[in-house]
Amino acid sequence: MKRERINAPKGVSEYAPPRSAGFEWVRDHLIAPAKAAGYQLMELPAFEDTNLFSRGVGESTDVVSKEMYTFEDRGGRSITLRPEGTAGVMRAVIEHSLDRGQLPVKVFYSGAFFRAERPQAGRYRQFYQVGVESIGLDDPAIDAEVIALADTAFKNIGLKRYRLEITSLGDAQSRAAHRVDLVTFLKTLDLDEATVARAEINPLRLFDDKREDIKAKMADAPLLIDYLSESSRENFSRVCRYLDALGIEYVINPRMVRGLDYYTGTTFEFIHEDLGAQSGIGGGGRYDGLMETLGGASLSGIGFGLGVDRILLAAEAEGLVVENQFASDLFIIPLGEIAKEKSLAIAQNLRQAGLRVEIAFGDRALKGAMKAADKSGSEFAVVIGESELNSGVVELKRMKDGDISSVKIEQLDKALSHIK
Ligand code: HAM
Repeated sequence: MKRERINAPKGVSEYAPPRSAGFEWVRDHLIAPAKAAGYQLMELPAFEDTNLFSRGVGESTDVVSKEMYTFEDRGGRSITLRPEGTAGVMRAVIEHSLDRGQLPVKVFYSGAFFRAERPQAGRYRQFYQVGVESIGLDDPAIDAEVIALADTAFKNIGLKRYRLEITSLGDAQSRAAHRVDLVTFLKTLDLDEATVARAEINPLRLFDDKREDIKAKMADAPLLIDYLSESSRENFSRVCRYLDALGIEYVINPRMVRGLDYYTGTTFEFIHEDLGAQSGIGGGGRYDGLMETLGGASLSGIGFGLGVDRILLAAEAEGLVVENQFASDLFIIPLGEIAKEKSLAIAQNLRQAGLRVEIAFGDRALKGAMKAADKSGSEFAVVIGESELNSGVVELKRMKDGDISSVKIEQLDKALSHIK
C-alpha cells in the first residue's frame, strides 16, 4: 500500500540541490565582509523566552502582535521561535558579560528566523538572515562601516539594481519633540480604534500603514527628520559624509519606518528593484535603549539583518547565478576495480589541491558514466582504465566542446589549475 506523502509546512523556504548551491554562495558572500572586518560568530538558539521579543522588539509591531510562533513548552514556559536576531544577540551579550570587555562587541549570525506572515514570493514563515551587530560605542563611523559591510556584500555578489535608503530617528530629545507634534496631528485625523491604539504605543507606525486612505492622511504629517536635535543632526551628517567618502550611494527617506520598535538614530534599508512587493533585501539601524530595556547596561548598538532568500531571488533576477557555476572541475570515470581504487586516491589528491572532483560510482558502463559526467556539469572528464594506469597518461576531455588533451596523471592538478 502506498502511504500518503508528507509535505513541508506552508510558507517555509527550503533549498535542495541544485539551487542550494546558489543559496550557500549568497550566504557566504553576505558573511565574508563582516568576517574581514573582525566580526565574530554568535550562534544562538532558534527559540527564546517570549518576553525577550515582546519587551525587546515592541508590542506595537506586527512582528510581535501578529506574527510570532509562540507556544508553551513542556515545563509551562512561554517560548517563541525567534522572529529576528537582534534581541537574542543582546540577551546573549548581557548574559555572557561581553559588554564588560572590549567595545564594541562585534558579532555576526546566520540562520533561520520565523514569522507567521501570509506567504508569497519572497515572504516566508521560515526564512534566512545574515546579520551583524556592533554593540557598545556610539560612533557615526561604525554606522557607516556597518552599512558598508552590507553594500560590499551586495557588490561582491554582483548586484546592481538595488538602492540604499537611509534616515535618522534622532535621539530621545528629537523623538520627544516630534512625538508631541505628531500626536497632535494624529488627533485631527479620523482613525479607527485599532489604529489609534497602535499609534498610542508608537505613533511613527502610522507612516508604515499600507492602507491608501491612511497614506493619504499621513501626507502632511510632521517628519521626524525636521525635529533632529543639533547633536543628532551633526551625527547623521557625519554618517552621510562617511558614506560619501566610501562612494556608497544613498537616498534619504524621512518617511521610512522599520518594522521593529527598538530603532533610534541612523536607520536604513536596502531595496531591490526586481522583487515586487517584497523588495526589502536588508535593513537595520541603531538601537540606543534596547540593551537597557533587556536589563543590561545603557549601551548603544547598531546592526543589520539581510534576507538571504530575497537576495538569492535578486541575484537570480539579475542573472548572477548561472548554470554550472557550482559544478565540479573534474569528473573521473574509473574502468575496473584497480582503476577505481586508484581513482579514489587521485581524486583525494586533486581535492587537497583545491579542485572540485567527482567520481563515477556504481560500475556503470562507459556510456552511462559519460552521461553522468555530462549531467554533473563538470568542466572536464577523464576515463581511467588499465591502459591509462599503465602509461600514466589520461585524456582530459573538456565537456563544453569535446576538446581533448593528453595529460600525465600526476600533472592533472597543474593542467586544471587555471580553473581553481
Ligand atoms: P527586518 O527588516 O525585520 O530587520 O528583517 C531584515 C530582512 O530580513 C528584511 O529586509 C528581509 O530581507 C528579510 N525578511 C524579513 N522577513 C522576511 C520574511 N517573512 N521572508 C523572507 N525574508 C524576510 C530585522 O530583523 C532586524 N533584526 C535587523 C537588525 C539587526 N537591525 C539591527 N540589527
